[in-house]
Amino acid sequence: MSKRVAILISGGGSNMLALVDSMTGDHPARPCLVMSNDPGAAGLKRAADLGIPVAAVDHRPFKGDRPAFEAALMEPLRAAAPDILCLAGFMRVLTAGFVSQWQGRMLNIHPSLLPKYKGLQTHARALAAGDAEHGCSVHEVTAALDDGPILGQARLAIDPQDNAESLAARVLKLEHRLYPMVLRRFADGDRRPVLLDETSASGGLANSVQSQ
Ligand code: GRF
Repeated sequence: MSKRVAILISGGGSNMLALVDSMTGDHPARPCLVMSNDPGAAGLKRAADLGIPVAAVDHRPFKGDRPAFEAALMEPLRAAAPDILCLAGFMRVLTAGFVSQWQGRMLNIHPSLLPKYKGLQTHARALAAGDAEHGCSVHEVTAALDDGPILGQARLAIDPQDNAESLAARVLKLEHRLYPMVLRRFADGDRRPVLLDETSASGGLANSVQSQ
């Protein structure tokens, strides 16, 4: 039987769309819910247009009461009964209490080569540090922010011409490839990390995917 996947978003939902697009054919999972903390998130409409059940729980009326906000999040989640929860550009920090309920079943994508640059402004920080490489990571969510076992990483070479905006756009394209690859593996019960190395790619011709 297919695994059920709920996806949590806060914005445009491009990673959510990449995940949804991948869950067809012989894929071991199917989307069961797309949920946002922002009722105006553009990704909600995109998901609804694809016929996926959607829900919104606005975090603002909770005024920083995270446990109360999370209790409200749990209602649509319980109804959808997902096997796997994917955070995809979900911009709220979750408490240890919430995370523990999904331990081993919740994934996140983060735009850096973890453990480097947890938190925000990852692209600007990689540039400021003079890094030669940058990328994105998919990890299991644990109580600590942007931590937890790495399930996949995709890396690229920083171009001398890159600024934070161009780098974000390049990394986002990698996110759209990496996250579906990791989800597919994870849904099959395979937690070996997916490693996608684009550092020597020229014109998108050369690339390699490896398993550990
Ligand atoms: C991505 O850059 C992701 O890494 C970050 O938020 C953005 C998500 O965008 N955490 P989208 O909503 O998936 O388009």
